[in-house]
Amino acid sequence: MAINMKYFIGNWKMFGKPNSINILNKINSFIKTDKKYNKKYKVVIMPPFILIEQFAKKFINQRIDIGAQNCFHKDKFGSNTAAISPYMIKAAKSKYVIIGHSDNRSEGETDLILKEKLNIALKNRLKVVFCIGENKKQKKKKQTLKVLKNQLTKVLNKKLDPNYILVAYEPIWSIGTGKIPSFNDLVKLSKSIRGVLKKIFKTKRKLPILYGGSVDSSNIKQFKSIKEIDGFLIGGASKSSKKFIDIIKNYYR
Ligand code: PGA
Repeated sequence: MAINMKYFIGNWKMFGKPNSINILNKINSFIKTDKKYNKKYKVVIMPPFILIEQFAKKFINQRIDIGAQNCFHKDKFGSNTAAISPYMIKAAKSKYVIIGHSDNRSEGETDLILKEKLNIALKNRLKVVFCIGENKKQKKKKQTLKVLKNQLTKVLNKKLDPNYILVAYEPIWSIGTGKIPSFNDLVKLSKSIRGVLKKIFKTKRKLPILYGGSVDSSNIKQFKSIKEIDGFLIGGASKSSKKFIDIIKNYYR
């Protein structure tokens, strides 16, 4: 993974149909024509599974990558109704996959399952966006750091390839609520996450740390001066080309 890259990753969640490719067309023309957009920036769009192949084929030689929002914890094929394996995601030409989003953790994903998903996703050479984040109660009880540390150490280990892992800090209380952590908290937490990752991977290589939770075009500038934040996982605002493009523009203007 390129160093100093800034990631803008759109997590569409349960949104999109075949003609939503128009949103990507608009983002793609922006990328191609805006003079300030350069190789330092990376856009990834994560539509629902059923749209991955269509989108990935269309944008294969363009500067938008396609990702999946989750994967099953077993590889190849199996008798698991409605499951999609990392192998199938890769075959559909997706390059990324989210693992551990709080929407899915809350459906009963254990650390063991997350570990399996991560191992198989990496085996298939998918780049993993591994999500961590505390809930409102944990924040209130000042347990945030402990929670994040636990989520990182229970699943990540130094045998995994750090070149294929991005960590997304997404406080659950911030997702879809319009609330974001204070500037000081973000500085402190992103530094702590960096410290934990250094200890786990024992490498000088810096894994990208993303922030996710209510990112929009009006609050994006606040993140710019936080050195440890290498990009964003964007939900609601990624479903509109205008809002998504405005986030990128406001970030570098
Ligand atoms: P949000 O979602 O930007 O709508 O808060 C972020 C996410 O859940 O990844």
